[in-house]
Amino acid sequence: MREEFKVYQGVFDDFTIKTLYTLSLKHFETIEGPIKTGKEADVYSLLTEKGRVAAKIFRIETSNFKTMREYIIGDNRFPYIRKGKRKMVFAWAKKEFSNLQRAIDMGIRAPEPIAFKNNVILMEFIGNEKPAIAAKDNPPKNKEKWRKIINNYMETMKKYDFVHGDLNEFNVLNHKEEPILIDWAQAVFKEHPLYEKMWKRDMKNVKRWLSG
Ligand SMILES: Nc1ncnc2c1ncn2[C@@H]1O[C@H](COP(=O)(O)OP(=O)(O)OP(=O)(O)O)[C@@H](O)[C@H]1O
Ligand SMILES: [Mg+2]
Repeated sequence: MREEFKVYQGVFDDFTIKTLYTLSLKHFETIEGPIKTGKEADVYSLLTEKGRVAAKIFRIETSNFKTMREYIIGDNRFPYIRKGKRKMVFAWAKKEFSNLQRAIDMGIRAPEPIAFKNNVILMEFIGNEKPAIAAKDNPPKNKEKWRKIINNYMETMKKYDFVHGDLNEFNVLNHKEEPILIDWAQAVFKEHPLYEKMWKRDMKNVKRWLSG
């Protein structure tokens, strides 16, 4: 393990440090610091030769296994998940990575996925010198413009039988007054039993947020 990763021994478990180390060989130089630490995941900014990337590091021990299970079971892309917290968290990270790519392919503005391994995903860093702030704490100046853009994104998702599932002001970053949709782990396609319920929830939340 590289010396500099040792300072993270009290912060991440050994397994996560090893994962970060492996990813660093190809994808980044150093860990700059935390952007946000949360219940399910911590998001860090990493420095590369060319700039920054963001790492979303899912917690293995304290993650909400039950919620993950609910969203993963029924998703045909992940048929082999049965039990085991570790594997579930890895599948969850992989699911967010794959969903980010799907969203981008549909033309939705979301962080570009870069790489993933185990419980860590690397993606485009949204921000300049500082990370972009969620719309909850940095509301758009032009709410009407955002309402149109986000409604368009929702129409696109509907067209592809896809749903974000946690779309609200906490999961949309305001980057130079442009909305960037983040936090895609729970997103599913129409085959999923929760699809309709998630659609209703997203529509209700977006309406409350942008049409209220
Ligand atoms: N690509 C990114 N670039 C810059 N900042 C980011 C990026 N992705 C996430 N963030 C920051 O991290 C925060 C949390 O990200 P995200 O919503 O994906 O995690 P979460 O699943 O909600 O985590 P938790 O449930 O533990 O709070 C965001 O509000 C934002 O501040
Ligand atoms: Mg979030």
